[in-house]
Order: sequence, then structure tokens, then C-alpha cells
Amino acid sequence: MTLFWSLIVDLVILLNIVACYWLIKWVAKPRKIEAKQGEPTGHVWDGDLTELNNPMPRWWLYMFYITIVWGLIYLIVYPGFSSYSGVFNWSSEKAYKEEVADAAETYGPIFSRFSSTDIKTLSKDPAAIKVGQRLFVNYCSQCHGSDAGGSRGFPNLTDQDWIWGGSPEAIHQSILNGRTATMPAWAAVIKPQQIGYIVDYLLSLNGKEHKATDAQRGQVLFASYCAACHQADGRGNPLLGAPNLADDIWLYGGSRAKINQSIAQGRQGQMPANKHFLGEDKVHILAAYVYSLSQQSQ
Ligand code: HEC
Ligand code: HEC
Repeated sequence: MTLFWSLIVDLVILLNIVACYWLIKWVAKPRKIEAKQGEPTGHVWDGDLTELNNPMPRWWLYMFYITIVWGLIYLIVYPGFSSYSGVFNWSSEKAYKEEVADAAETYGPIFSRFSSTDIKTLSKDPAAIKVGQRLFVNYCSQCHGSDAGGSRGFPNLTDQDWIWGGSPEAIHQSILNGRTATMPAWAAVIKPQQIGYIVDYLLSLNGKEHKATDAQRGQVLFASYCAACHQADGRGNPLLGAPNLADDIWLYGGSRAKINQSIAQGRQGQMPANKHFLGEDKVHILAAYVYSLSQQSQ
């Protein structure tokens, strides 16, 4: 913040405190109406329940003054003013870093003892899988589901169908560095009717109801627009994260309307990176856990 804005902020803080003080003073000032203290205000409920106008008790009033004193002490001890860092030089960032360092020291060994075992072997170690499952429920379930079964837009991690590859290395990579899928939107390039043909072609690939002549037209369009990423046979390319379009497993839904939407509007699935968030050791265990899930289903 520039000096100017710092001063403005500090001024506003101080004005607020003065205003609080003034408000309490003003409320506590004996006024004409309080001369008639104990008198009914004129509000009556339930026939005979009357509101009286009594002044606030003293002790209550003092409590308000104490909050002001408390606030001032707080502003001296902690960094409440714009560029003042407080008596103890406390900052939330520093406090957070200290906590993280403490946790790394306490819990780090629990995770690092697995780091020298390769992912495939680790996936058969019940102790590691137990740790992996807990990590998964904490950090991954909000998107992939607590059973890793996924939902629309979030892939199932327990089956054999992988967008980015199902080898231990590929899974590790997905979790460590994240993945960003880019399926372009085609509405501006391909006419709606032609997109309809392509949808028929994709439905035919998956053995679903389709119009045969339209599917044939769609196949030609697919070869020129889509094969670069999804391959000529539609079986996808894990290097680009382009999913297999012929196995009737759909990330965004396999109905005519949903496929049409995927093509016309595009899709941009994002798997967040965990390298700096969870760190290598936890990612290693998570990769083993996810790999074990897909091995069980095999
Ligand atoms: C914010 C939501 C979100 C969170 C949290 C998340 N993921 Fe993902 N993940 C995704 C999405 C979306 C994709 C698919 C990206 C795409 O469209 O290609 C994905 C893809 C993956 C893949 C690749 C799947 C494949 O078929 O190739 C793996 C493995 C994976 N996630 C594991 C994890 C693990 C382990 C965690 C917990 C550390 C996690 N994810 C947390 C959203 C999330
Ligand atoms: C630049 C590469 C690229 C091209 C070209 C491309 N796609 Fe995709 N497509 C992808 C990627 C990557 C995804 C995954 C998106 C995600 O995970 O969010 C995808 C997803 C899809 C999906 C959703 C699949 C599902 O499981 O729900 C459909 C349908 C699809 N593409 C069809 C097409 C068609 C039809 C064309 C040609 C008109 C095409 N794509 C061209 C990369 C491409």
C-alpha cells in the first residue's frame, strides 16, 4: 500500500473507534425521556405486557468501554494498522508456515517411510493402502467420490478406463503435476447439422441406436476434425488426455444431447496439481492407492 492509502486506512480505523466511544456516550447521556424512566413506551403485547423505558445498567455500559480498551490493546499487539506489524511481529503467513513445518516434522516420517518402495509393490502393502485411503478421502473425494467412483466431469479411478494412462507412472504424474484437458469447442467451426452427423458416428462406434447414413457422413468429418487427438478409430490418446470415444464410458455423459454438447461447447477438465500442496511423499502413496483400486477391479 502507498503511504497515502495507509494513512486513509489508519484514519478510518481510528475514526471508527472514536465513533464507538461517542455512540456509547450518546446513548448513556441522561435525556429528557429518561427523566420519565420506568414509564411505559406505549408498546403493549398480549393485553397487559408493557414495555418500560429504563436506562441501561452501569455495568453493562462499562462492558462497552472495556471492548474499546481491548480493541486498542489488540491493535498495538497485533498488526491491525496498515503498515504496522505489531509488538510480536505476528503474521498469519508466518504462523501458517510454522504449523506446516511442525506437522511435517511430526507426520513426515509416517509418509516418507514408503517413499523408497516403488508404486507397484507399494500397492500391495496393506499399511500403505490404509494411509492412502485416508489421504484420498481427505484430499480427493470431494471431486472423485469417497469410493473413487467419480461422477460427471470427474473420472472414475477404479476402472480400467484411463484418460491419461493407467500405469503407475502415469497415475503418479496425474496426481503430482495435475492434468489440463483441452477439448476445443466446435460450434463456430462445424455446422450444427454436421455435428449431428458426428454424434451419430460416435453412437455407432458404441453400438447405440443411430442413423447409418448420417454416421457415415460423420465418419468423414471425424477423420478430418477429430482424429488428430482422438485417433482415426476414436480410441483416444492418453498423451493428450483425449478419451476413448468407443468404449461407451463417458466423462460427460453418452446421450445424444450430452455428446452434442461436448462437441459444440468443448470441455476443459482440470485435475489440480499436488506437488506443492501434498508433496512428493503423499503423492507417492496416493498413486499406489489409486493403482491398487484399478488392480482390484481387473
Ligand atoms: C477439484 C477436483 C479434483 C480434485 C480435488 C482431485 N481431482 Fe483428480 N481429477 C479431476 C478431474 C476433473 C480429472 C479429469 C481431468 C480431465 O478431464 O482429463 C481428474 C483426473 C485424475 C486422474 C487421471 C484419471 C485418468 O483417467 O487418467 C487421477 C489419477 C486423479 N485425478 C487422481 C486424483 C487424486 C489421487 C486426487 C487427490 C489428491 C485428486 N485426483 C483430486 C478433478 C479433481
Ligand atoms: C485438440 C485435441 C482434440 C480435438 C481436435 C478433439 N478433441 Fe474431443 N476431447 C479432447 C480432450 C482432451 C477431451 C477430454 C476433455 C476433458 O477431459 O475435459 C475430449 C473430449 C471429448 C468428448 C467427451 C468425452 C466424454 O467422455 O464425455 C467428446 C464427445 C469428444 N471429445 C468428441 C470430439 C469430436 C467429435 C471432435 C471433432 C469434432 C473432437 N472431440 C476433437 C481433445 C480433442
